[in-house]
Amino acid sequence: MEVVIHSEPAALAQMAADAIADLLARRPDAVIGLATGSSPLSVYDELAARCARGELSFARARGFTLDEYVGLPVDHPERYRTVIERELVSRVDFAPGAVTGPDGSAADIPAACAAYEQAIRDAGGVELQILGIGTDGHIAFNEPGSSLASRTRIKTLTHQTRVDNARFFGGELDAVPTHCLTQGLGTIMAARHIVLLATGTAKAEAVHHLVEGAVSALWPATILQHHPHATVLLDEAAAARLRLASYYRQTYAGKPAWQGI
Ligand code: F6R
Repeated sequence: MEVVIHSEPAALAQMAADAIADLLARRPDAVIGLATGSSPLSVYDELAARCARGELSFARARGFTLDEYVGLPVDHPERYRTVIERELVSRVDFAPGAVTGPDGSAADIPAACAAYEQAIRDAGGVELQILGIGTDGHIAFNEPGSSLASRTRIKTLTHQTRVDNARFFGGELDAVPTHCLTQGLGTIMAARHIVLLATGTAKAEAVHHLVEGAVSALWPATILQHHPHATVLLDEAAAARLRLASYYRQTYAGKPAWQGI
């Protein structure tokens, strides 16, 4: 696991955008895993700006989102399909229908989850997966207790996650759905490169477990310690509880530029 700590969150967004740009230069038809939530927003701003300047193109790329609320009306602004459309897809040049997500309004939930897994497999798997992390250590919506080998399925959101996400629902806890469909930890682990972003003090405990804790379903993101190519991009506040922070800084400072992340 590579840990990069930078005092400027904008620099972290640049690093993630550079990784996506490098990937698209190598493989214009790459499959990219997209997260919603606030953590990747500055990356999406950066990608939109580069696309507007003609520096990169998603025209042949495909995207899969991580998760979706169950039970939100199709026209709800916080439905993750709507969010990713608003925050990224409509601002770059993805082909129509190239970005998809789990179907939270499917009548047959298990069939929709199996179809989503199949769609990712049929596309050749995810090349680069953007992730955030929840304050309770979830990635996608794999809440504490999730199977470390799980696949796309329905999950119950923890009270903490619903409290954290109430800010997207006008601060109203009752407006936050109780259930979601989410890629499993096994699904996420199949991506070839994972790029996780975390900023702010509220993430420091989850980041401490993610990077230096014991691998455990209690802190689901810890499964990423088993990933052969996981990059964790942190600001100082999110990195505040890392015991080996100075080693991570020293390592990144001495890294040859050609290596990327
Ligand atoms: C969103 C997702 C979640 C978020 C996490 C952090 O698609 O999968 O795991 O990444 O809840 O959310 P933010 O970035 O809003 O702090």
